[in-house]
Amino acid sequence: MAKMWAGRTSGETNQIADDFNASISVDKRMYREDITGSMAHAAMLAKQGILTKEEADVIIDGLSGILSDLDSGALIIGTEDEDIHMFVERILTERTGAYGKKLHTARSRNDQVALDIRMYLRNVCDEDIELLKELCAVITDKAEEYEKAVMPGYTHLQRAQPILFAHQLLAYAQMFLRDIGRLSDCRKRMNVSPIGSCALAGTTYDTDRRFEAEKLSFDDIAQNSIDGVSDRDFCVEYLNAAATIMMHLSRFSEELVLWSSCEFGFITIDDAFTTGSSIMPQKKNPDMAELCRGKTGRVYGDLIALLTVLKGLPLAYNKDMQEDKEPVFDAVDTVKNCLLVFTPMLATIKVHEDRMMEAAKGGFINATDLADYLVGKGVPFRDAYKVSGRAVALCIEKALTLESLPLSDYKELDAHIDDDVYGFIDLYICVVKRISEGGTGPDSVKKQIEWVRNKISL
Ligand code: ARG
Repeated sequence: MAKMWAGRTSGETNQIADDFNASISVDKRMYREDITGSMAHAAMLAKQGILTKEEADVIIDGLSGILSDLDSGALIIGTEDEDIHMFVERILTERTGAYGKKLHTARSRNDQVALDIRMYLRNVCDEDIELLKELCAVITDKAEEYEKAVMPGYTHLQRAQPILFAHQLLAYAQMFLRDIGRLSDCRKRMNVSPIGSCALAGTTYDTDRRFEAEKLSFDDIAQNSIDGVSDRDFCVEYLNAAATIMMHLSRFSEELVLWSSCEFGFITIDDAFTTGSSIMPQKKNPDMAELCRGKTGRVYGDLIALLTVLKGLPLAYNKDMQEDKEPVFDAVDTVKNCLLVFTPMLATIKVHEDRMMEAAKGGFINATDLADYLVGKGVPFRDAYKVSGRAVALCIEKALTLESLPLSDYKELDAHIDDDVYGFIDLYICVVKRISEGGTGPDSVKKQIEWVRNKISL
């Protein structure tokens, strides 16, 4: 096919070069944005008297026909055209003749593609925010369902202090809420229209960039035409937010994998979200969680790929920038697919409160509380810490827990210890006593549930 830009050159290119140059198989997913953008462009050209009203009407009608044909499947995007912009323009020209040829007045593919990605990604931000809100809602529901479950909190993956399972879950809600914040921040900076920057220098036509931007629901226009076509910061920002979402999902997934193992036995993942083994009949594997963890790597890769593409580019547009879309779309799909599977998986987990409590009992995680008990009796913390450590050593020697160590043994360790110690180091009581704001105490956990619910309803 003769190239639309044939003229300066014959336009007769090598087939391998054509295939190498083409981006249509990737950017075709932006057809809706491309067509909507072109409709606004035609309307602006007519408003400014650059096209007649009749010309613009024919163009807009043609574009809307293309859009509905693409939506219905009556028109299929093949691989004949270089990119989605060329495809739409070719079909429009085929359908409307000379009218279609007038659409590309006062714009360039450089500002057109920058416009399309911005429109595409701001929708993605909105969708991701909704998916993250759904995940936070499930977290709060689970926290409420198991509001009394006590588990060991860990540092270094060693049992550290008793916590409410709900508290651990709600920590993730905080991370996902920050992810929502990152997405809405980058959406704001993204929502600035580059159209009208043209190739790089603006245009000699009397265009109205603000009219076009408003029609497309942008908050503002790019203030510098060179920046308008060169900027892909918003893609980097999206990828950064995506990578961070994945990092959080990955840590959460890792915990679900650990907790569902026989060694922990804290949770059971519903059969619907697990797989079996082709050889070991007993296996039930947490593949969905593992895949969310595993796919985190590719999203990190997407971020680094784009940063690397951009780092050496002189202003303004360079064809290297066509390499922005594959990593962006890969991250978009990965984040969406992971959230779509993770949320219902979490919603259906069963929590084994008895196993959590057993683990909590086995790790002397109330040793800090024993020390605090002695502090309450007037013993300096450093001395109390030593006594508590010796009590743990004695328990290990006698295969007992701090709760079952006889008072006579305690008395030998420190005369300050009395019968009331058992109430003090009871694991649930240890949790209840963590009354500091943001701590694991039940009141704090209840407040957190309310706080998260309030945030996601805004
Ligand atoms: N397919 C191109 C891209 O994605 C569109 C812009 C092409 N501009 C140009 N001057 N060749 O970047």
